[in-house]
Amino acid sequence: MQIGRVPLVGRQADLDALRDEVDAVGAEGRAVVVSGDAGMGKTRLLRDFTDSLTDVVVVRGACVDSGSGPAPLTAITDLLRDLVDALGVEAVREAAGPGADALGVLVPALADSAGDAERLADVVVELFSQLARTHRLVVIIEDLHWADSTTCDIAARLVRRAAALPLFVLLSYRTDDVGRAHPLRPVLAELDRARLLTHRPLARLSPAEVGALANAVHGDTLAAGVLNDIAARSDGIPFYVEELASFTGARLPVSLRDVLLLRYERLDAEARRFARVLATGGVEVEHAVLRDVFDGDEAALEDAVRSAVDAQVVVIRDEAYAFRHALMQEAVYAELLPTERTRLHTAYAVALENSAPTARVLADIAHHWRAARVPDRALAAGVAAQRAASVASAWSTAAEAGERVLELW
Ligand SMILES: Nc1ncnc2c1ncn2[C@@H]1O[C@H](COP(=O)(O)OP(=O)(O)OP(=O)(O)O)[C@@H](O)[C@H]1O
Ligand SMILES: [Mg+2]
Repeated sequence: MQIGRVPLVGRQADLDALRDEVDAVGAEGRAVVVSGDAGMGKTRLLRDFTDSLTDVVVVRGACVDSGSGPAPLTAITDLLRDLVDALGVEAVREAAGPGADALGVLVPALADSAGDAERLADVVVELFSQLARTHRLVVIIEDLHWADSTTCDIAARLVRRAAALPLFVLLSYRTDDVGRAHPLRPVLAELDRARLLTHRPLARLSPAEVGALANAVHGDTLAAGVLNDIAARSDGIPFYVEELASFTGARLPVSLRDVLLLRYERLDAEARRFARVLATGGVEVEHAVLRDVFDGDEAALEDAVRSAVDAQVVVIRDEAYAFRHALMQEAVYAELLPTERTRLHTAYAVALENSAPTARVLADIAHHWRAARVPDRALAAGVAAQRAASVASAWSTAAEAGERVLELW
């Protein structure tokens, strides 16, 4: 099994289209939005595409779901960190000019003193516009289905700026997570009306492409019957193809949720418990928080993590653990017993109460108390989250936290 090193299958037309777009950037920029269901290969396509570019500065951010709504400004924080990595703190501060202090809320190294965070969106848009005049800049904001309204606003304004600046903006979202009432819809519709955005919906892989991917993942040619089965069950979604092709030794599972749980089921009891603890915390959880909730010695946790990583259920990102795929978190979370769910959410709320009370942490605490069915503590944390969000960053994030508080009355 060779996940990660498998060549990109069936996306040549998409790569060519993206290449045409980036080549078309001159005095005016371009903006493209890539869409597709979970696991359709949006991230993979954008990675392979940007890996093929030379002499450009690529900055990448992804929106994240906190479990109870968008985690505020994660994508923007990632973009700024990438900028600092690519260009250095001084160059970024200089380009941001007097606005640099406002960015300190997200990347402390960029500020001398706490600035006026209300202007954050303006400062970020101006910063990228400024840098686009001197650098070939590719700005990627992924997973807009999880964007908070400030991030959405920044993305839309960058697309508008790209109409008059040599800036290349690449966006992505999950089609299956953007229903008719989703707040992203009117934003995209408005940009479409102004003809500012090119859509690149990713198609399902054809049966032949599924076969090529399945064989590559398996490392050998699979029997025709197995390939037909994988093509039918995977629905042409690369993530499912990978999952199904990795387990052809055993009988193929009956449903896609079972597919998602295959790797999990094969873990030993402690690693499964680790995965359930992680799933309760969300797609990604900091080590320090997870350790408190896991409630076992360090060595047991290390063993469990290693098994889960070896089985490709979990990946390690800096100081955090994350499911290899968001869908897997959903599937594992659905496996929890009701009592276990309450107990683990309570443990998370308590563990997070020992962390620095940022708006994000407070919102997570509120979510865990709510999920643990302790409404009064959820309400208190929700109010605190709202206050912190309005002090620390965008008003829109505060308004979203406020809405969730109101739901608890
Ligand atoms: N065209 C492809 N050829 C080979 N492998 C692919 C292809 N597309 C996706 N994959 C693999 O399938 C898996 C899922 O892809 P990816 O994470 O890019 O999906 P996604 O659309 O970004 O999903 P999500 O909505 O969850 O972010 C990854 O392991 C990726 O490497
Ligand atoms: Mg992705």
